[in-house]
Amino acid sequence: MIIILLGPPGAGKGTQAKRIEASRGLVQLSTGDMLRAAVANETEVGNKAKEFMDAGKLVSDDVVIGIIEDRIAQQDCEKGFLLDGFPRTVAQAEALDEMLAKKGLKVDAVIEMKVDDEALIDRIAGRYTCAECNAGYHDTNLKPRVAGVCDSCGSTNFIRRADDNRETVVSRLEAYHAQTAPLLPYYREKGVLKTIDGMADIDDVTAQINQVLDAL
Ligand code: AP5
Ligand code: MG
Ligand code: ZN
Repeated sequence: MIIILLGPPGAGKGTQAKRIEASRGLVQLSTGDMLRAAVANETEVGNKAKEFMDAGKLVSDDVVIGIIEDRIAQQDCEKGFLLDGFPRTVAQAEALDEMLAKKGLKVDAVIEMKVDDEALIDRIAGRYTCAECNAGYHDTNLKPRVAGVCDSCGSTNFIRRADDNRETVVSRLEAYHAQTAPLLPYYREKGVLKTIDGMADIDDVTAQINQVLDAL
């Protein structure tokens, strides 16, 4: 099964992708996480991507398409995968369709997570993750069971993303509306677009996604 989670920054793509990965064995492929790892390791790709990410702008299509092409060739993707943050432009969507067609595959569903812009800013401002295992949390919406201790791995080290500040969020939202929203009609025409209410609470959103996946 090949599923795309589509939604603006802070919509909950990463939060839900981790849950679906755990419950259904579909690998989460987050281009944002891959790019952040490349930046941290100061690779050639990371050094190229950093200034775009810091400014809240999209990294060039050829860079992210190359990353995804290499990643889906790996064995753990054979049973299917869940794309989180890719594609983000029509050119990326066309490149994905081509890559998949070569393997006799296609996108099974694109799940649009609809959330109001005002709610997104609050979600992003409160977000942090475990520095060890990357589990995601939020200052008010999703706290660890024991304050200051990661539920998943017990670490007490947490980090906030460099691009989670008010100015960068505004640019990221602009990039979403200008460059990524055109994917909605693109996938609607192909008959694979499913829209869910991303304003609901986290468990409810998971239930809505499961309903879509069960119906496929
Ligand atoms: P990326 O890492 O993909 O960031 P993004 O799209 O801006 O999305 P986020 O990760 O911020 O949000 P999310 O939807 O995953 O939300 P989350 O689940 O964490 O990309 C970063 C950058 O990399 C881009 O700006 C770009 O430069 C580059 N890039 C990446 N991919 C690219 C591509 N394909 N092409 C070009 N450039 C690319 O949730 C947010 C918070 O809200 C969390 O704290 C969570 O606990 C909370 N929350 C989640 N769901 C709910 C809910 N239902 N109710 C209340 N709170 C909730
Ligand atoms: Mg994310
Ligand atoms: Zn952890």
